[in-house]
Amino acid sequence: MRNPISGSLQLLDLTLTDFASTSADDVHSYLSMMKHELSNANDLLEDLLGWAKAQFNSVSFTPTEIADIRGLIGKCVQNVMPMAEKKGIVITQSVDEDLRLTADKGMLETVLRNLISNAVKFSNQGGYIDIKAVAENDGVKFSVADNGLGIPKDKMPQLFDKTSNYTTYGTAGEKGTGLGLNLCYDFVLKHGGQLWVHSESGKGSTFFFTIP
Ligand SMILES: Nc1ncnc2c1ncn2[C@@H]1O[C@H](COP(=O)(O)OP(=O)(O)O)[C@@H](O)[C@H]1O
Ligand SMILES: [Mg+2]
Repeated sequence: MRNPISGSLQLLDLTLTDFASTSADDVHSYLSMMKHELSNANDLLEDLLGWAKAQFNSVSFTPTEIADIRGLIGKCVQNVMPMAEKKGIVITQSVDEDLRLTADKGMLETVLRNLISNAVKFSNQGGYIDIKAVAENDGVKFSVADNGLGIPKDKMPQLFDKTSNYTTYGTAGEKGTGLGLNLCYDFVLKHGGQLWVHSESGKGSTFFFTIP
């Protein structure tokens, strides 16, 4: 795994070294590249920290009532907007009226953030991502659908397997840790829910999870 901060440092060096003779346009483009690098670094760090905490069983589980599911999804979407815009990916969300649930907000956010950032990461230029939350069996069923790369059938068993850390490059060369889905699986399980995926290589993937 390449350290994603080093890319930002190089860009920063480039910007600072010839600052006086660099045009405002170039500075702007270096800064927006840095923003992409740093938001990737931020995702990786969040996964690593979450994973480290889970290893030491020191993740606190504090369920509270959450009424603003749209806001929660919106926040996660906001996070990936720079990359989504760069790839020309359209993201839509639909959430049932008056939906509420009881969940650990931090964990729910981690799960959504990971699934949404994966959808962006593994989608091609002009892709389409649809996020849904619907009432089901007294709980809520979430789905994150993309029409991106899809996942080869023989790799599916590795996705949620802690011993594998299966990871591939995103469509813009984004690197990962392979920890994100393991975290998602743990966090959903902690809520007594389920996480699963439908995917077809070359057509896209839909990740589902339930919070009872
Ligand atoms: N929406 C998706 N579309 C295609 N492949 C995916 C998707 N989500 C996950 N994957 C595959 O599963 C792997 C593991 O995902 P994850 O655990 O989030 O790790 P990372 O994103 O750090 O690689 C990814 O590297 C990718 O190969
Ligand atoms: Mg990921």
